[in-house]
Amino acid sequence: LSAADGLLELDLAAAPATVRVGARTAHVQAFNGSLPGPTLRLRPGNTLRVAMTNRLEVPTNLHVHGLHVSPEGHGDNPFVSIAPGESFDYDLALPEDHPPGTYWYHPHRHGHVADQLAAGLYGAIVVESPDPVPVTRERVLVVSDITLDASGVLAAVSPPEQMMGREGETVLVNGQVRPAATAAPGERELWRVVNACPARFLRLTLDGQTLRLSGRDVGRLPAPREITEVTLAPGNRAELLVDTRGGTSTLTAAPVDRGSMDGMMGGRTPGDGPGNDEPIELLTLEVTGAPAGAVGPVPPGPAPRDLRGEPVAARRTLDFAMGMDGGMMSGGMMGSTRGPGSMTTFTINGEPFDEDRTDQRVAPGTVEEWTLTNSSPMDHPMHLHVWPMQVVADGDGDVDAPLWLDVVDIPAFGEVVVRVAFDDFTGRTVYHCHILDHEDLGMMGTVEVR
Ligand code: C2O
Ligand code: CU
Ligand code: CU
Repeated sequence: LSAADGLLELDLAAAPATVRVGARTAHVQAFNGSLPGPTLRLRPGNTLRVAMTNRLEVPTNLHVHGLHVSPEGHGDNPFVSIAPGESFDYDLALPEDHPPGTYWYHPHRHGHVADQLAAGLYGAIVVESPDPVPVTRERVLVVSDITLDASGVLAAVSPPEQMMGREGETVLVNGQVRPAATAAPGERELWRVVNACPARFLRLTLDGQTLRLSGRDVGRLPAPREITEVTLAPGNRAELLVDTRGGTSTLTAAPVDRGSMDGMMGGRTPGDGPGNDEPIELLTLEVTGAPAGAVGPVPPGPAPRDLRGEPVAARRTLDFAMGMDGGMMSGGMMGSTRGPGSMTTFTINGEPFDEDRTDQRVAPGTVEEWTLTNSSPMDHPMHLHVWPMQVVADGDGDVDAPLWLDVVDIPAFGEVVVRVAFDDFTGRTVYHCHILDHEDLGMMGTVEVR
């Protein structure tokens, strides 16, 4: 769906749906009956108006992940709650200089976010560039995971899975199991990959093809960079260029070590499904036939802003922690017999989420430096709404070229440093762990720019 006259208006219903998943009939939840929901195409300066209806049995709402739009009122307001049977009108105006790129949407009603993503409620948003990279073809690849029982009904999540962050048994690309794509040799494809899994990290590889990274969460890289793999934390996106060569290739998600609760829970790590041990084949690409005509070179993208040359108005530290039985969890303690759900707390700076408390007060128009620390044995991918983050230092040290993300993984017992320019909007919004079970369990805070 794309905007006409700068305005894209649509009705979006979050509702139970029956779809085909592989060989099974699956009873899921979806936007407008399809898995994923419709792809929304916008340009910088466009307005997106969504009449969102809740046909679920629990409250929901809508979040446009990564879009730089107002968090207030009928904007990207994470505090809206749409009761079952009710509707809410969103009015989302993108600034004229909004970064082009791949974004997405999903519900954000605290306490229900992981359940609703795992059930199938997500869709892609493309903000088109006025000056796009020349390609033969573009594909939007929304990767998600789901667990269904034998009769195709969504399986319930267990407390240990919530603690670890649930990973669905079946990994889907655009709602399908290992779909096939075809191309001719000598073509250039742009793949817009969205990690819409509630907790699964994706380490993507593509054998037999030259893979170039041309964009991350926010905006385009000044020049595409050849890569052999790219890791997407939950919520991250990558834009990949594939210059096709004859043969059959497989887009694969290789195993990722994101920490664990080993030694705390005893035995098997919760959520430790096949995804953590073995590569998962996501999509096959078959390149055959007569070679296509050459595609023109990739023109350089605009130079990204670099906040390292700008004055910093304030510095803050945010510590992501998991506590057990009132104490902090570190390494391999543990001997409680209580259920994991009742003994674990997920906090930022010692506090679980309270929507009425304002955790950070920021002056509009200023640049801040946030040090994100993780005192737990698991990675926590940190996400800030509305304002993108420039990663200044990550787990491997200082980052050279400007890197702009809206989800930044904080490694287990590690630290990352980001800078944020709180430009263009005032209002109150949230930051949280994008392992959405952790978010629902309280690993979220509020920021007010005013
Ligand atoms: Cu993708 Cu606050 O979320
Ligand atoms: Cu978001
Ligand atoms: Cu987390």
